[in-house]
Amino acid sequence: MPEIAWMLERGYLDAIDGELKSGKEATVYLGRTRAGLAAVKVYRDLTVRSFKNDARYRAGRYVGDARIEKAITKRTATGRRAQGRLWAGHEYAMLWRLHRAGVPVPEPLIGPDPSDIGDAGEVVLMRYVGDESGPAPRLADVPLAPDDAHRAFAEAVDALATMWRAGIVHGDYSTYNLLWWRNAVVVIDLPQAVETDHREARALLARDAASLCATFRTHGIEAAPERVLRSVFGDA
Ligand SMILES: Nc1ncnc2c1ncn2[C@@H]1O[C@H](COP(=O)(O)OP(=O)(O)OP(=O)(O)O)[C@@H](O)[C@H]1O
Ligand SMILES: [Mg+2]
Repeated sequence: MPEIAWMLERGYLDAIDGELKSGKEATVYLGRTRAGLAAVKVYRDLTVRSFKNDARYRAGRYVGDARIEKAITKRTATGRRAQGRLWAGHEYAMLWRLHRAGVPVPEPLIGPDPSDIGDAGEVVLMRYVGDESGPAPRLADVPLAPDDAHRAFAEAVDALATMWRAGIVHGDYSTYNLLWWRNAVVVIDLPQAVETDHREARALLARDAASLCATFRTHGIEAAPERVLRSVFGDA
């Protein structure tokens, strides 16, 4: 891949050490950099991909080129590549903003200069959460003692509130996109995130609060989405 070659050449990356996870929309590889381990998220070959209701998230987002727009809609090879670049670029932008706002997200390792992000193409390079023996588990996959469950939930609600104040709604918020590392929550997976002035922002936030509560039930947390929303809006 030209993007990986560019990262190696520019010294962003020293080596790729194999696959970590293959998801619905991307494949994540383990990378080595001079500054430590990296997660290399590659958006590609998304033949079956149709991002949960993608049009809803794309609404109002500016693509800026009618031909690319058409290729994306038709899902041609060019369109899929263009779509991958858009997702990666958007994920970088969200990671930079949230990292700077103090939300626990993996630190982005390329950017914030848009031209560097452009060169990174379909590849999001970010700090790896985990250690040599493996990546941090998702909160959905890890058993938690009651104390830890309460702390994790409180941190997840806090992160949702900080994101809202930073002007961002995650859009796919649940224990499936929260990692648990050294007794702390890390928020991942941001290509579908929207600005708080997006016309669906409040509806997406409400859905995020509901999925957060629903997925925390397995950890013994009984929480009402309305309360989560009140604490996000700061009137709890
Ligand atoms: N920075 C990271 N450090 C460690 N592991 C990571 C990192 N980023 C992603 N992962 C791992 O890769 C998986 C997929 O990442 P992510 O959720 O961003 O992509 P996805 O394509 O949406 O995957 P899915 O379809 O499973 O939700 C995560 O569940 C997590 O296990
Ligand atoms: Mg995910």
